[in-house]
Amino acid sequence: MMDGSTQVHVRNAALVADALAGLTADAKTLSPKWLYDHHGSALFEEITRLPEYYPTRTEAGILHANADALAGLVPQGGALVELGSGASVKTRTLLDASGHMGAYVPIDISRDFLFETAEGLRATYPALDIVPVVADFTAPVSLPAALTELPKVAFFPGSTIGNLTPEGAQALLSGVRAWAGIEAFILGADMVKDTQTLVAAYDDAQGVTAEFITNILRRLNREAEADFDLAAFDYRATWNAALTRIDMELVSNRDQRVRVAGHSIDFAAGEPIHISAARKYTPDSLAALAGAAGWDVRHRHVDAAERFSVAVLTPKA
Ligand code: SAH
Ligand code: AVI
Repeated sequence: MMDGSTQVHVRNAALVADALAGLTADAKTLSPKWLYDHHGSALFEEITRLPEYYPTRTEAGILHANADALAGLVPQGGALVELGSGASVKTRTLLDASGHMGAYVPIDISRDFLFETAEGLRATYPALDIVPVVADFTAPVSLPAALTELPKVAFFPGSTIGNLTPEGAQALLSGVRAWAGIEAFILGADMVKDTQTLVAAYDDAQGVTAEFITNILRRLNREAEADFDLAAFDYRATWNAALTRIDMELVSNRDQRVRVAGHSIDFAAGEPIHISAARKYTPDSLAALAGAAGWDVRHRHVDAAERFSVAVLTPKA
């Protein structure tokens, strides 16, 4: 297996096309899905342990407190299918609480990180069928044919749903609703709260989030024949109250021209590239999102301060 530190200088055609479309738009943008090469996945794991980044430990507490009820949603011999599984750390709480699942299906775009994670899980859960699927969930996800007949519960923790556009989030929820044998959807969602807490979670004192977001430029240099000077961009996280989201941007700190796959991209001093948004929800906005995609909110598990919620969605009749 490829070592995470290996530098692969292979042109990534999908990344080049996406980056050129985003960087030649009037308001420059890149898709957050490109944050997750092996190094990006490892940096995200570092973020989850930061003192300011409350979502992971808050959601982990909710999963722990409700592990039996949540794991019990998966029928005997059924599959737990996780979207954006990353290191599958929180998932272990559900796997530990379930002696009866037939399969765990982690889905992720970060291929090598996914396969390494799957190896680790096989060592801990030898009786469980671990079926990693490399896929981009911004497009319809097709599951391996062998899983078609199994009853399934989808699991989308982390509030990764908040990194999608509202239309993208609805498309994903509708797509999963159409899976054969789908019985429930366990959805982790971060809630609207005070601005200071939110901004600190996305602009930590150690600069790990800045490093994670800037890693997208490093990836473009490596896989899209780009020549970004990483020091020429500053990270900025802001709360957008109108859209109830944190915006994560890289701001050019001077006038400059950058080459990307043979094309010139000009930046004015102060011009941002929008890299990622992290939408935050209210009980009402979450129910509206789920409802529009054919789901009822059967239950919402929360922490004492209602910072984060783990909703159990069931198909609308
Ligand atoms: N579920 C974990 C990890 C969340 S980080 C947790 O809650 O801590 C978000 C994960 O989603 C990463 O592992 C990333 O590689 C994956 N991801 C991001 N965009 C994706 C996409 N478009 N398709 C599939 N996986 C994606
Ligand atoms: C994966 N996702 C839910 C994280 C979030 O909180 O939006 C990604 C992240 N970006 C910066 N910090 C964390």
